[in-house]
Amino acid sequence: MKSYLTLTNEERRAELEPLQAQYAKVRECGLKLDMSRGKPDPTQLNLSMDMLSQNPYDLIYSRKGTDVRNYGELAGVDEAKELFGAILGVPMQNVIMGGQSSLCLMYDSFIKALVLGVYGGSKPWGQQGHLRFLCPVPGYDRHFRICEEFGVEMISIPMSPTGPDMELVRQYAESDPSVKGIWCVPKYSNPQGYTYSAETVRAFAALKPAADDFRIFWDNAYMVHGFREKDDELLNIFAR
Ligand SMILES: Cc1ncc(COP(=O)(O)O)c(C=O)c1O
Repeated sequence: MKSYLTLTNEERRAELEPLQAQYAKVRECGLKLDMSRGKPDPTQLNLSMDMLSQNPYDLIYSRKGTDVRNYGELAGVDEAKELFGAILGVPMQNVIMGGQSSLCLMYDSFIKALVLGVYGGSKPWGQQGHLRFLCPVPGYDRHFRICEEFGVEMISIPMSPTGPDMELVRQYAESDPSVKGIWCVPKYSNPQGYTYSAETVRAFAALKPAADDFRIFWDNAYMVHGFREKDDELLNIFAR
């Protein structure tokens, strides 16, 4: 499809009319939907209700004896790492607790790659000329906004119920060092709710990108479902 910016007035009008008809039809339904994303489910929110009735002074010290109201544990307190390790299915040693939302962490990682490079000694992305990023579509607009903000060209990769078109991902990633990474929402992807298949994940692990500073942003935004699937395990952790 042509970009709206390049359409003639006539083409724009031809595009607008059916869209207005569609819009009118949706309005006729009189729906009152909450379209905000990522809102925790009440069952998830309820998990922390008991904390509010606790004596706050009982919660001040971690198991190790750290006063959790203060600075101290750079990668996060062990109890929190254990909790999220169970949700993510990884050992707690592999968890770093960020003091921010995941979007802030992703934005920060992206900027660090642009300004400092992705590992010690690698040339910052920002000094490597034109940059390209693979964007499975439809996808998460906030990921794409980060690319847009820094002038990184976005390459659309079609999504399917098993994940992005991995043949296309492989072709781009393995042939072009200006392709620096890909945005992924592997579980319950936004907006279709698809989960990448094991084969897709294995294809990611087997990628041999032309850029040695290629990065996969693996945004596992699946907390609501994660809690439901693992309630018992999580409650056991809370009980310890
Ligand atoms: C795919 C995806 N990533 C990240 C977020 C935002 O998460 P956070 O609140 O941790 O920034 C959302 C919110 O809906 C999301 O859908």
